[in-house]
Amino acid sequence: MATNINAEALKESPIPDAIAPQPQQSKQTVDPYNVSGEIGEDGVMKAIDYKKLVEEFGTKLIDDELLARFERLTGKRPHHFLRRGIVFSHRDFEIILDRYERGEPFFLYTGRGPSSDSVHVGHTIPFEFTKWLQDAFDVPLVIMMTDDEKYLFSEKRSIREVQGYCNSNAKDIIAIGFDPKKTFIFSDYQFMGGAFYENVTRLSKHITLNQARAIFGFDGSTNIGKIHFGAIQGASSWASSFPHIFGDNEKETVAIPCLIPCAIDQDPYFRMTRDVSARLNYEGTKYAKPSLIHSSFLPALQGPGTKMSASIDESAIFMRDTPNQIKNKINKYAFSGGKVSQEEHRAEGGNTEVDVAYQYLKFFLEDDEELEKIKVSYEKGDLLTGEIKAICIKHLQEYVAAFQERRAKVDDEAVKLFMQTRPLSWVGNPNPTRT
Ligand code: TYM
Ligand code: TRP
Repeated sequence: MATNINAEALKESPIPDAIAPQPQQSKQTVDPYNVSGEIGEDGVMKAIDYKKLVEEFGTKLIDDELLARFERLTGKRPHHFLRRGIVFSHRDFEIILDRYERGEPFFLYTGRGPSSDSVHVGHTIPFEFTKWLQDAFDVPLVIMMTDDEKYLFSEKRSIREVQGYCNSNAKDIIAIGFDPKKTFIFSDYQFMGGAFYENVTRLSKHITLNQARAIFGFDGSTNIGKIHFGAIQGASSWASSFPHIFGDNEKETVAIPCLIPCAIDQDPYFRMTRDVSARLNYEGTKYAKPSLIHSSFLPALQGPGTKMSASIDESAIFMRDTPNQIKNKINKYAFSGGKVSQEEHRAEGGNTEVDVAYQYLKFFLEDDEELEKIKVSYEKGDLLTGEIKAICIKHLQEYVAAFQERRAKVDDEAVKLFMQTRPLSWVGNPNPTRT
């Protein structure tokens, strides 16, 4: 959940100054449960420092060479998320490209924790990108709905409630445009058992309480369901969890890797899964480690040190918001990088690095030239805050309206089809290089 750390509240802490947490020392936090930028000396939250994350997590930045290789192999121009550094980091993406090049099997895996009735525009980022990867590679995709997680990690939600969200969120995901012949969506509550549960225990058996504490920051008062949950999210990284898709020859399936597109908050689960994979083998065949490709966060309306959160209504634009709601939220809440007075803005220009309207345009305006024009004009002070917000509103309204048109056509039958345990069909690389 995005946290707005209140520097004033910290200052008023009754703890003696010497040991009280100093706001300027509040470090950047990024994990599956918290995302917040560093608090500067002025008490203001800074934008997330993604370069620093790459160093801390030990991932790699996506560079031009990797993108050129992707384009050479798939014949597809890199997505604007890749061109603009929104999808910026990876683990072993080369291994996936190697396999694509040789026509060897791999699959895509991503997921959603159904925490509310509708997904927000931030959630659509990894899903849009996943769809694009599915089209580029023509491989099977599994989408995990962690209804169990959203029950375990909440004080308030009931199991029935998260199951309802799971159904409506599955419709939202289908509306992104996935191909049912190549896509399996599953709910943890429904799919648990069989080969999947075998893998859950295979993973959980190799994680100690101390490791879970170190990776996720749990303590002695954490419920044990949360402590175990990482094994569930991790176990879908293994193709052998899905015998209906990959067959039941485990000696073959354990070697099939997946590529996981997600925002970087989810990385800790898969760092853990990669460590365990490296220690496992099936009759001498090594378990494949999952590869990852990470996106940055669409910031909350309140500013760039945060991520949009479905549990805080004023922080997010939801995919079921009306054009008017979108307009009002952007005008009322979107953090501005503009200057306080028009005079000052005309003289000094605005700051696109922190301006939420500009940041959203970076995600949703596909035309590179138009985006560059807006940037130059805003930084010079020609384009005013109200004007850049109006452009942002127009593009977001279009994006959400197009989604809603597709969403209106997704019925319960479609959900049944996508969630049915069934074989999938795909081609992969039509012209592999056999070596
Ligand atoms: P969840 O539901 O919190 O988020 C779903 C996906 O959206 C990404 N995301 C964002 N991306 C950009 N900007 C944002 N503001 C933003 N907020 C969320 C998340 O990183 C995620 O990719 N435990 C997971 C569900 C899950 C999963 C997975 C996700 C299970 N297996 C494998 C990714 C890959 C969850 O609750 O995601
Ligand atoms: N909850 C409603 C449904 O399940 C409405 C809804 C949820 C919706 N997400 C949406 C409508 C996205 C349009 C677009 O149908």
